[in-house]
Amino acid sequence: MLENFSLQNEAQNETANERDLILPSQDRRVGISIFGLGYVGAVTSVCFADMGYKVIGVDLDEKKVLGMNNGIPPIVEEGLMDHLSLALNRNRFKATTEAVNAILETDVTLVSVCTPSREDGSCNIDCLRAVSETIGQALSRKTTYHLVLFRSTVPPGTTRNILIPIIEEASGKKCGEDFGVCFNPEFLRETTAIRDFHQPPKTVIGGYDDYAARLTSKLYENVGGNICCCSLEAAEFVKYIDNTWHALKVSFANEVGRLCKAADVDSYEVMDIFCQDRKLNISEKYLMPGTAFGGSCLPKDVRGMQYLSDKYGLDLPVINSIIHSNNAHITHAVDLIHAQEGRKIGFLGVTFKSGTDDMRESPIFNMIEQLSYMGYDISVHDDNLSVESAAKGYGSKILSKLPDMQVKNAFRLCEEVDIIIVGHSTPDYQDLLEVFSCKKPIIDLVRLNKTCRSAKKYSGVCW
Ligand SMILES: NC(=O)c1ccc[n+]([C@@H]2O[C@H](COP(=O)([O-])OP(=O)(O)OC[C@H]3O[C@@H](n4cnc5c(N)ncnc54)[C@H](O)[C@@H]3O)[C@@H](O)[C@H]2O)c1
Repeated sequence: MLENFSLQNEAQNETANERDLILPSQDRRVGISIFGLGYVGAVTSVCFADMGYKVIGVDLDEKKVLGMNNGIPPIVEEGLMDHLSLALNRNRFKATTEAVNAILETDVTLVSVCTPSREDGSCNIDCLRAVSETIGQALSRKTTYHLVLFRSTVPPGTTRNILIPIIEEASGKKCGEDFGVCFNPEFLRETTAIRDFHQPPKTVIGGYDDYAARLTSKLYENVGGNICCCSLEAAEFVKYIDNTWHALKVSFANEVGRLCKAADVDSYEVMDIFCQDRKLNISEKYLMPGTAFGGSCLPKDVRGMQYLSDKYGLDLPVINSIIHSNNAHITHAVDLIHAQEGRKIGFLGVTFKSGTDDMRESPIFNMIEQLSYMGYDISVHDDNLSVESAAKGYGSKILSKLPDMQVKNAFRLCEEVDIIIVGHSTPDYQDLLEVFSCKKPIIDLVRLNKTCRSAKKYSGVCW
């Protein structure tokens, strides 16, 4: 069906000179309508035209449409005017307010209209609803397959639960059969938007179905960056998570800067060194959801930073909220256990992480402490736990009882308890849990393998 995706081959009419300027994939003259000629839509329009596609930009704002048709971009963005003028000269771009016709004349529709915040912080998707209605009306008159790519930032579930039903209702057609939908977030940054379009950090394609996702991948085959195919909801959420992460990085660096200045340390010297560490700092390390942090260093040193912030009279909300966040994660895991039936619980792994005997500030021990006060009958298994290592932990009455809770045989522990809590991800535990996963509730703090995760009574702490 991919062949149906071509318009007439205009490349044959190109002069040799023009063809030199275009990329190989541009022989496929797919027509693309792009809704919203704002910061994203205007740049995306000229960039797809750069790649040889026929683009029709659609906006409600007549001034923007008129401006674009006359080579005047509606926004300030480096290179945009040159790329627009090239697109107009090559007859690859026009702008219009005639939304339905634009869809009828094209094979793909990209939607990049505004999704601003409401006063309560929720995302206002009114413009997306209106565009979806228009797409539906146009599709009711179309006989060929049409691909719709939503690019505006939205919360997860919006495309599947709100936008697709609007299109289906207005068109009388079925998503996945008569038309395809993907959520395909945009990662461009204003000021470097054209470069970012052609060399994105990644191309994320959340497909309603596999066919729509494959067509979308084709559209981007000559754009740099990894193509990541995923669910609609993951694609929607990635953009929120990315932006929240970027905001967190800025706020963290600024808090470090304020603290450094107060301590008379050069913040640039510190952060230069920090950023050079691609192994632990700027990497995927410590970035996968799982158990709360613990051990002898992280909690202690974060508290040290909090102390310094107080000492210098600084307001550092990001740094000061870290311990609170970690405790909330531990409480969440305790609540998950509490929601299960049964009073006999067994922990597989209790030291602060697998492969060490260090009990200092083990988040699992913190959970044991809370559950013990709640009256649970607790057993633990950990090959590295010894009376000495338990004694090295934070002074606590419960900790001294830990050796009494210890069961030497993990299989026996699993047999005897009502609920199994997995604190360490060792191959032995994984094998064992494949046996027990269909028999007993499992609370997973470490993300076990797929077989265990698919068991009926399985709960992951944050997945
Ligand atoms: N600005 C960025 O750098 C950036 C980057 C990535 C993602 N995003 C997301 O992309 C989306 C668009 O952002 P933007 O900054 O380009 O917004 P924008 O406000 O600059 O542009 C949106 C455009 O959509 C038009 N529009 C509204 N309703 C319409 C309709 N029914 N039909 C046709 N056009 C319509 C508006 O007139 C406006 O020109 C948002 O969801 C935003 O969060 C923005």
